[in-house]
Amino acid sequence: MALTLATAGESHGPEILAVLTGLPAGLALDRAAIDRELARRQHGHGRGGRQKIERDAVEVRAGLRDGVTLGSPLVLAVRNRDWANWAAVMDPWQVDPAKAERKRLTAPRPGHADLAGAWKYGHAADLRNVLERASARETAARVAAGAVCRQLLALVGVEIRSGVLALGGVTLHEGAPTFADLMRVQEDSPLRSLAPEREGELVAMVDAAKHAGETLGGVIGVVARGVPPGLGSYATWEERLDGQLAQAAMSVQAVKAVAVGAGVEAAGWPGSRAHDPTLPGTNGLRRGTNHAGGLEGGVTNGEEIVLRAFMKPIATLRDPLPSVDLTSGEPTVAAYERSDVTAVPACGVILEAMVAFVLARAFLTKFGGDHIQDTLAAVAAYRQRLGPLGPEGFTRSPR
Ligand SMILES: Cc1cc2nc3c(=O)[nH]c(=O)nc-3n(C[C@H](O)[C@H](O)[C@H](O)COP(=O)(O)O)c2cc1C
Repeated sequence: MALTLATAGESHGPEILAVLTGLPAGLALDRAAIDRELARRQHGHGRGGRQKIERDAVEVRAGLRDGVTLGSPLVLAVRNRDWANWAAVMDPWQVDPAKAERKRLTAPRPGHADLAGAWKYGHAADLRNVLERASARETAARVAAGAVCRQLLALVGVEIRSGVLALGGVTLHEGAPTFADLMRVQEDSPLRSLAPEREGELVAMVDAAKHAGETLGGVIGVVARGVPPGLGSYATWEERLDGQLAQAAMSVQAVKAVAVGAGVEAAGWPGSRAHDPTLPGTNGLRRGTNHAGGLEGGVTNGEEIVLRAFMKPIATLRDPLPSVDLTSGEPTVAAYERSDVTAVPACGVILEAMVAFVLARAFLTKFGGDHIQDTLAAVAAYRQRLGPLGPEGFTRSPR
């Protein structure tokens, strides 16, 4: 069965959950590595007060014993420490209505899911019923699951990195990045950008935006290297991996556009510039360039997978936009609740997790295996079948 990921949980509920089905048995997981990814998601200058409250750490509810997957659904949980402050508001049974001193939200924030969600699910009387789930707190579960997928992919040498290419309209890197470009990112820097030397200037820009009651978006680059060729397929539209990666990236809250490789720029180039020459390499074939971003025909071609994602500014504004109270119909301003000024650095970490999940799903679809040793044996057989005319990096022995 294909790898699946479901998440559950409200932003201020007791916990956020991830359910991964279809993982092979026998995969040893490193808890500290999952927690490191969760900490990376919380990092970044411009985050709101919530990150000071939370200390995200993974807990396992099912599917793991002695640190090794069982082949059964893996259920991960990340507790919301803030729940302690919200237990009465978020009470699932309303055991004590008197205690639930609810502050109902009725003025939808333009740019957030509030209005569309109120109409769709009948939540006009309290938009909290929308925002609790539409909030990006949900991505803690995606990052935990993505960290598991990374550990699977690492067994065949796949590595994934990200970095901020532009913030608030300031470009820090022109065009699509390579993995080597992303090595410039200093993980503990305030903004995880490709220009660490300019981060002082960027921090001041974020602070100025905060002071002005503004919010900022940006552009993130994500690159995966060491990805086996042949993941995804051109055979049916759903199997095209560029489409799957774009959907996964667009599903991240506030991401509004995704580019694969030099896709955007290449639309204006002649074909002779846009496409990547195939050349003989040492022990395999290599490409002269990687404008395709590692995907041709919806199939990985052994080159680096290169994505860029474009994130809109945060929707919650301290100086709110006009809105309408959904209970009275009167004009008002949108609700304000503690919020990030920018979350572009964190968005990169979430995108890495989504890329890891989509690649792991395609990897397991191709190589299968109830036990991880079956999976790795299938990879070895494939590597042998491709032989010296496979991609240079893959036909060599595993890294
Ligand atoms: C890491 C991250 C943190 C976010 N933090 C906030 C926030 O604090 N306040 C807010 O209004 N939106 C925040 N957002 C964005 C909203 O979740 C997003 O604007 C909302 O889902 C609507 O965007 P959509 O139309 O793309 O879904 C965040 C997004 C991400 C990825």
